[in-house]
Amino acid sequence: TLTSLSLSLSRVIQSYNPSFPVGCHVVSDCGWRSHWVCDGAELTPVLPDWPLDIPLSLALGAIGMPGLTALYGLEEVCEIKKGETLLVNAAAGAVGSVVGQIAKIKGCRVVGCAGTDAKVSYLKELGFDQVFNYKTVTSLEESLREAAPHGYDCYFENVGGKFSSVVMPQMREYGRIAVCGSISMYNDTTPQTGILSTPQTGPYVHTYMIFKQLRMEGFLCARWKHKHQQSLRRLMAWMTEGKLRCNEHITSGFNNMPAAFMGMLQGDNIGKAVVKV
Ligand SMILES: NC(=O)c1ccc[n+]([C@@H]2O[C@H](COP(=O)([O-])OP(=O)(O)OC[C@H]3O[C@@H](n4cnc5c(N)ncnc54)[C@H](OP(=O)(O)O)[C@@H]3O)[C@@H](O)[C@H]2O)c1
Repeated sequence: TLTSLSLSLSRVIQSYNPSFPVGCHVVSDCGWRSHWVCDGAELTPVLPDWPLDIPLSLALGAIGMPGLTALYGLEEVCEIKKGETLLVNAAAGAVGSVVGQIAKIKGCRVVGCAGTDAKVSYLKELGFDQVFNYKTVTSLEESLREAAPHGYDCYFENVGGKFSSVVMPQMREYGRIAVCGSISMYNDTTPQTGILSTPQTGPYVHTYMIFKQLRMEGFLCARWKHKHQQSLRRLMAWMTEGKLRCNEHITSGFNNMPAAFMGMLQGDNIGKAVVKV
């Protein structure tokens, strides 16, 4: 089963709800459609003082849910500190690219993995300290070790599966793992691992977690909904100061959506995938 979330940015064109006057912009999960009618209950207002020179579409990316996810994963789950070493995978995606940049703002050393050379170049431009293409390296284990010989204090997990099994032994003592996503597993028709699989293949994380005293925590961005508005302002401040950048992989027109969607599934996008209509 494909797990997918597709947020939309919309302009209110008719309103009987004073909280959402005509002309304001809102984010919602109404799906990909040209118009829709709602009572406002599930709408998130875009920051009212959004600067004119910042594209509004970033409300779906770095100054929206993916940016918030990056921020909360680093601050609330990893509790990342200056000088620490962070690993992030799917690093050129909407979430990962913001994760690495925020960690740099916080004075950390950032290692990122991505699946094409173009993504690797982009992440180097963003200031990541070490980046490699996990699809072309001879050994993921060796590449991770070369990138951080002393190991990783924090691991921002977007991919799951076998990738994680390789990272676990390279965590440092008291390391923290923010389990944000497991994109390599969403479409599995049979479980890669676990008590239901036969034969059991692991990974078995317990030994590493005990002897390295690791903390591993899954999270959903919505847990910190009460902080969203102030967090969006922080992300916007970094953006206007030039400390945060966001590439948008833009497809135009509803007709091109199926191809765009398939491309996204294959990992074509650098940064946030956006369809403009
Ligand atoms: N916990 C939360 O609240 C929350 C919120 C938002 C997103 N998420 C999760 O965070 C992760 C990243 O989201 P995103 O919006 O940044 O994603 P995205 O922009 O769509 O990027 C996804 C990237 O994942 C990489 N990838 C690695 N293994 C893959 C595989 N087996 N199949 C397909 N892609 C694979 C691909 O890049 P490469 O070329 O580098 O492989 C792909 O471009 C996802 O797992 C998502 O479900 C969680």
